[in-house]
Amino acid sequence: MKILVVGTGYVGLVTGACFAEVGHHVICLDIDREKIAQLKQGKIPIYEPGLEEIVERNVQAGRLEFTTDYAYGVASSLLCFLAVSTPQGADGSADLSYLKRAVTQIAEEMTEHKIIVNKSTVPVGSAQAVAEIVDGVLAKQGKSLPFSVVSNPEFLKEGDAVHDFMKPDRIVVGTDDPEVGELMRELYAPFNVNHDRILLMDPLSAEMTKYAANAMLATRISFMNEMAQLCEEVGADISKVRKGIGSDQRIGYSFLYPGVGYGGSCFPKDIQALRATARNRECSTLLLDAVEEVNQKQKQLLGKKIHHYFSTRGGLSGKTIAIWGLSFKPGTDDMREAPSLVLIRSLLQEGAFVKLFDPVAMVRAKEILPSSPQICFVNDEFEAVQDADAIALLTEWKQFRFLDFDKVLEKLKGRAFFDGRNQYSPAEMRAKGFDYFSIGQPSPQLLFA
Ligand SMILES: NC(=O)c1ccc[n+]([C@@H]2O[C@H](COP(=O)([O-])OP(=O)(O)OC[C@H]3O[C@@H](n4cnc5c(N)ncnc54)[C@H](O)[C@@H]3O)[C@@H](O)[C@H]2O)c1
Repeated sequence: MKILVVGTGYVGLVTGACFAEVGHHVICLDIDREKIAQLKQGKIPIYEPGLEEIVERNVQAGRLEFTTDYAYGVASSLLCFLAVSTPQGADGSADLSYLKRAVTQIAEEMTEHKIIVNKSTVPVGSAQAVAEIVDGVLAKQGKSLPFSVVSNPEFLKEGDAVHDFMKPDRIVVGTDDPEVGELMRELYAPFNVNHDRILLMDPLSAEMTKYAANAMLATRISFMNEMAQLCEEVGADISKVRKGIGSDQRIGYSFLYPGVGYGGSCFPKDIQALRATARNRECSTLLLDAVEEVNQKQKQLLGKKIHHYFSTRGGLSGKTIAIWGLSFKPGTDDMREAPSLVLIRSLLQEGAFVKLFDPVAMVRAKEILPSSPQICFVNDEFEAVQDADAIALLTEWKQFRFLDFDKVLEKLKGRAFFDGRNQYSPAEMRAKGFDYFSIGQPSPQLLFA
């Protein structure tokens, strides 16, 4: 089938590349000229494992192309996918300005029947809003053309996006038109061979499903973070508790890891957007409000632990903290709402110096953080710890898992290790000589003495 994907970010580029991989002809469009120029030269503007090979293969095969030209993209495609950003607006609700602009531009170029498929995460009712925009543009241009709007939310995870797209748990398709539903089934047939993954529903339910899924996952994270806090208070170990509850089949093991709070481009903004939807309808969201509040608190936790540790060691001012991992999770260079940013800002405010390292997110981190004599970007985890007073692990990249900790200790000036992701055995780390602190695990009080 002939497909246009509008927006070539994390979702759009993966969507376009994966549709091309299974034989569809795809045009990826973006308003960012530089991004399109890079893609035309074979450069992938984001870090996503496995994506580069797929893009290269399909460009060579003539199934994937890039453009900034709406007229060309719309004229060449039956299906127009929307994968533009829907960031958080000032009042917490989803900012639909990018989406509205993209829809308007598609509608302006329409000369025949099109199916507009929304993959962006948008508030319930947006399929109807998109249809009204298209109607408005067509009426203004004096055109009368048939079109359909489908809600097809995306559930991929950054860092695993290609796999998630190629082997989805489910494909949610929201449409009231059975013929369009059949066409979507055909489009996704190559992803649907092993068993039927397609869930056909009405657009409102499809839009709500995306928010409810993210809200559920964020709730599990905040729940575990709250339990971790309690574990620290009572001397229990959250890692053991996690296994104890995860082994209950009704609960399961996934998304039960405590840490430094959720970040990224989805959970924070989607929770806020869902709360805003509820507010607009005068519904309360007691649970979601708490999920968000717990997360805000959790993002500050490591900073508080570090502050507390150094409060009896001359304070944080002038101390150097090595930070391992900057992206909001491993496998991605995405820095949006990353917990590392909260920690770095609080350390800078207290007068500390930070030495920052991340295997792939350095470029994006440099774009976000201010240039400051207190901030130093380094080339690897060992350079980061050279003469540092403490280490803080923020992102659990695999390369930090098995390190030569004797070498780390040789370079480190201090002994403190703040593990925001519970990556190591507390007993082993303490035996090596670290003052080791993790999340939700007992810490010997004397370290704080
Ligand atoms: N990133 C994820 O893990 C993820 C997962 C599921 C769903 N989503 C949702 O998918 C949507 C896209 O997310 P993303 O992370 O890919 O965003 P992104 O910011 O990485 O990419 C969005 C792209 O859209 C382009 N764009 C904006 N306005 C445009 C316009 N009028 N015409 C053409 N291009 C335009 C931008 O230049 C950018 O390249 C969001 O609604 C997001 O919530 C994201």
